[in-house]
Amino acid sequence: MDVLGLDVGGSGIKGALVDVSSGEMTTPRKRIPTPDGAEPAAVADEVAQIVRHFSWSGPIGCGFPAVIKGGVAHTAANIAPSWVGTDVARLFSEAAGSPVLALNDADAAGIAEMRLGAGRGRGGLVLMITIGTGLGTVLFMDGRLVPNMELGHIEIRGKDAESRASDAARSRKGLGLSAWAKRFDEYLCRLSALIWPDLIIIGGGGSRVYEKFAPLLTVGVEIVPAKLRNEAGMVGAALAAAEAFPELLS
Ligand code: BGC
Repeated sequence: MDVLGLDVGGSGIKGALVDVSSGEMTTPRKRIPTPDGAEPAAVADEVAQIVRHFSWSGPIGCGFPAVIKGGVAHTAANIAPSWVGTDVARLFSEAAGSPVLALNDADAAGIAEMRLGAGRGRGGLVLMITIGTGLGTVLFMDGRLVPNMELGHIEIRGKDAESRASDAARSRKGLGLSAWAKRFDEYLCRLSALIWPDLIIIGGGGSRVYEKFAPLLTVGVEIVPAKLRNEAGMVGAALAAAEAFPELLS
């Protein structure tokens, strides 16, 4: 039973078919660079391109970098402001000609890691952070998702945390890995003092070099790298869509 999983990010839109009973991708992923400006109509065109690439007609799950409630985007930290108030699920479903479940991208990645990756079988409060264009965050309490946690936007030294410690901030400011790790560690310490997680999972593109920066982290909480790394968003979106549209799975 395949579902198309999509992950819309600040730099690329990725998609792959996912077998939702095993969580395995059944095709190589297809990636298209996010169009300049990332306006809704242009992004919807690219979603349609990915759908055509897989000749797909069936349920679609899509992780999207914003607060999503009932399919509608409520924030636009790293995307065009015109997304606020846009019904992402409807827009993409019209472009794709198939039903789309839209959810926050970090929530999607977290669902996959909890089900199949580093959070499997873990109870208590699990925090996952995706390091990318932004800082995505997701919380699970005893395995149950608390959606739309925008904890990448807590204030540190008078600034939005993600503007200091995301992967995009690292390259924008030309920070070396240890200078960036210091900022990220400060972020983890602050966040942990506010929510006291039992486990922190680090994912997103920035986790590719996890082994290099992990020794520089001082926060006294168990930390593990995500297992599905950059595939988690697509896989989790597909799993969430399978649950949202059970009647469409044959
Ligand atoms: C957004 C979040 C998103 C994260 C990762 C942040 O800027 O506010 O909604 O999950 O970036 O893409």
